[in-house]
Amino acid sequence: MLGPPGSGKGTQGQRLAARHHVPHVSSGELLRDHVRRQTPLGRAASHAMARGDLIDDELVISMIGEEVIRPDAPGGFVLDGFPRTVAQATAAYDIALRHGITLHAVVWLDIPRDELRARLQARGAAAARPDDNSATIGHRLDVYVAQTLPLVEFYTGRDILITIDGTGTVDQVAARIDTALDPVLRAGE
Ligand code: AP5
Ligand code: MG
Repeated sequence: MLGPPGSGKGTQGQRLAARHHVPHVSSGELLRDHVRRQTPLGRAASHAMARGDLIDDELVISMIGEEVIRPDAPGGFVLDGFPRTVAQATAAYDIALRHGITLHAVVWLDIPRDELRARLQARGAAAARPDDNSATIGHRLDVYVAQTLPLVEFYTGRDILITIDGTGTVDQVAARIDTALDPVLRAGE
């Protein structure tokens, strides 16, 4: 699942994983768990996460690269939030190759910035996440454009990008994903 903050990577990723009975693996959730447990990775990552910056590629790749590519998940998995830079994507291919795993499809949730802001501000009002405040939300969106958006071209070049209109209700977006993805998954069986 590829997309800006608030685009629904988590919401749609979980739904998709449940539908196909496979794990949903979110790098953000993993990192937040490390922060809660105050592990060395959590301590190294907490400030950047609170600011809305990405964690250094080397740190992310070395600490959770193997974990998120899930070599132990038969039947596949849904990956959310990783890779999110070209350096991570290149590393992900190396790790996948080493474990004989094929990355079948990249679902890119495309959605206007105003709607993202509204969603994240709404979640911020419920105080669910420390990075959902107005100042940090804008920065996360800028970081996405600068560091993650280049992956759209990267995966278009590898012919596995599926662009989904991320606006509308959760069910509408989910239906678009299923329509686009089902033929790809059937072909990969
Ligand atoms: P991460 O946890 O990945 O957060 P994010 O990219 O900022 O995105 P969100 O989780 O906020 O949004 P989402 O796209 O999952 O949408 P959601 O379904 O929640 O990363 C957090 C931080 O960790 C990063 O800033 C970075 O520091 C670090 N990090 C993580 N991975 C990294 C990596 N690989 N490398 C380096 N650093 C990394 O939906 C958002 C809200 O909208 C929810 O409230 C939801 O209920 C609502 N919503 C969803 N769909 C709809 C809809 N259709 N209509 C209305 N509301 C909706
Ligand atoms: Mg998320």
